[in-house]
Amino acid sequence: MCASGATPFRLAEEAVEWLRARVRRRPVVAIVAGSGLGGLVHAVSEAERFPYADIPHFPVSTVAGHAGELIVGSLAGVEVCLMGGRVHFYEGYTMHQVTLPVRVMAGLGARICIVTNAAGGINPDFAVGDIMVIRDHINLPGLAGHNPLRGPNDERWGPRFPDLSNAYSPTLRRLARQSAGALGLTVREGVYAMVAGPNYETPAELRLLRLVGADAVGMSTVPEVLVARHAGVRVLGLSLITNKVILEPREDDAPLELHQEVLDVGARRADDVRRLIVEIVTRLAPTL
Ligand code: HPA
Repeated sequence: MCASGATPFRLAEEAVEWLRARVRRRPVVAIVAGSGLGGLVHAVSEAERFPYADIPHFPVSTVAGHAGELIVGSLAGVEVCLMGGRVHFYEGYTMHQVTLPVRVMAGLGARICIVTNAAGGINPDFAVGDIMVIRDHINLPGLAGHNPLRGPNDERWGPRFPDLSNAYSPTLRRLARQSAGALGLTVREGVYAMVAGPNYETPAELRLLRLVGADAVGMSTVPEVLVARHAGVRVLGLSLITNKVILEPREDDAPLELHQEVLDVGARRADDVRRLIVEIVTRLAPTL
């Protein structure tokens, strides 16, 4: 429930109604552009653009590198809606607010959701600039009680106890690997651990994450995946490894400029992520 008494589902429905009255298209694929990957917006043609601030109940991003507009248009001949920027739990939004846009895209008709993010590489084999197809996740805020599915459930959206044994569609993961191969790009596959942020992790926390099998760590994506899966939307998750995490405390008092590094790597690799997504959507088109 929200302060107004409206459920998150009702708020999403109101935003869907508002958008339906304004967009001509019926998007079938939803895309979330993460840190530094907002350039994906330019891959969408015949774009109808809606600043988040104009859409009822939409949260507005407060972080550099995260534009805030919903774009509905065509990508490789497929009707898509794309979030140019997302909001995060660490900005002070509730999990319900963070996930409202994905619920809205599902409400508009999206049956597949491609989520992207910037992540720190924990797996020692990963290099900065690698693209990781998410195979599974560890939801640390969720395990601690911060879950967007908490609260009254609306059965019209999905079941009370959603199954997550194949949260990241095996078919879409295969398609992503094939698409990368066709473009000559190497992709990794691995487990994404979500932390709440906004601080970067301590070396001890990172060693903990490594012990439990995390390959990459970030501050987003998982809540969006949960509401998508709850609504029966198939998910593909892609992480751009923007930095290698530091597993032992440094012997140096100077702070690191990690956020700038994240944005710089995003800018450098954004084009490959865009090409990969266009190829994936192109291959999806005949199946939709
Ligand atoms: N930790 C958490 N989130 C991140 C990181 C990181 O190292 N890099 C990009 N997002």
